[in-house]
Amino acid sequence: RTKRQAISAEPTALDPSQLTDVTLTSYCKSKESNELIQRALMDNDFMKHLEHGQILTIMDCMHPTSLTKGCCVIQEGDDGSTVYVLEEGMVEVTKQGKKLCTIGQGKVFGELAILYNCTRTATVTALTDIKLWAIDRQGFQTIMMRTGLIKLSQYTDFLRSVPSFQSLTEDILSKLADVLEETHYSDSDYIIRQGATGDTFFIISEGQVRKSENLPTLSKGDWFGEQSVAHFALLCKDIFVLLVCSAAHLHIFPRSFKQLIGGLDDVNNKQYDSDEVKAKLQAEADYFSSVT
Ligand code: CMP
Repeated sequence: RTKRQAISAEPTALDPSQLTDVTLTSYCKSKESNELIQRALMDNDFMKHLEHGQILTIMDCMHPTSLTKGCCVIQEGDDGSTVYVLEEGMVEVTKQGKKLCTIGQGKVFGELAILYNCTRTATVTALTDIKLWAIDRQGFQTIMMRTGLIKLSQYTDFLRSVPSFQSLTEDILSKLADVLEETHYSDSDYIIRQGATGDTFFIISEGQVRKSENLPTLSKGDWFGEQSVAHFALLCKDIFVLLVCSAAHLHIFPRSFKQLIGGLDDVNNKQYDSDEVKAKLQAEADYFSSVT
C-alpha cells in the first residue's frame, strides 16, 4: 500500500464528519494511474453520470491490489463489496458458466452489485496476473451520500441568499433545494430560443445571462422560466434570444415550484424600480399562475 492521508472535506455549512462516521482514506497514485482510473470511471455506462467531484473522490480513495492468473475476483451470486478498475492484465466475465466477454486495462467492473444493491451478476476471473484499483462498498456509498448532502446544504444556502426567496421558510427552501439540478452553459450558449416551449425554471447561480443588446443582463439570483421569457418577449418586442455569458443555472420544474412558492408576494403589492422590472415580474407571476 502506498502512503495514506486523510481526505479534507469541502467547505460547507454542514460538517461532513457529522454526516457519517466513515473515514475516507486517500491513496497516493501516479499521474498515469489517476488518469487511467478517471477515464475508466467516465467511460463506464453506469458511472459516467456521476458528478466530476464524485469521480475525483472515488479515484482518490481507490487502493491498489493484485491477484495472480486464474484467481476468481468476483463470484456470481455473492454479496458485492468492492468496485474495481483494472490497471494491468485481462479478466474474463462469465454468467452461469457461459463467457460474456473479456475486460482489459482501464475498465471498471464490479460496479453493478454496489450501485444497484444486488448480488454479483456474473463471475470475473483473472486471465493473467492482474493489478487492480479497488474501493469498498462503504467508501463508495459514503462518497455518494456526502456529496448529496453537501449539495443540498449548498443549494439551501444559495436560495436563502436570493432576495425573492427570503420570505420562504427553511422547510420550503430545503424542499426546493432538493428538486434543483445544476446545468452549466458556456459563454455564448443559448439557454432558450424565442418560441421554444418547455417547463424549466432557471435560477442563475453563477455568471450572467443577456437577453438582448439594449436590455440589462440577468445575474446571480435572478430567475426566469421558458414561458415567462415568451411572455416577456411579447411585452418587450426587441427580446428575441437569451444569450448566456459564462452562466451556470439551477433549474427546477415549475409544478413543484408553484406548490412551494405559493407564498411569494403578489407583484401588484410591491414597489418596483422601473416599469421594466415590474413587467418582468408580472410576466413571471402570470407564468406561474398558468402552470397547472
Ligand atoms: P457486478 O454484478 O457487481 O459483478 C460482476 C461484474 O461483471 C458486474 O458487476 C459487471 O461489472 C460485470 N458484468 C456483468 N455482466 C456483464 C456483461 N454482460 N458485460 C460486461 N461486463 C459485465
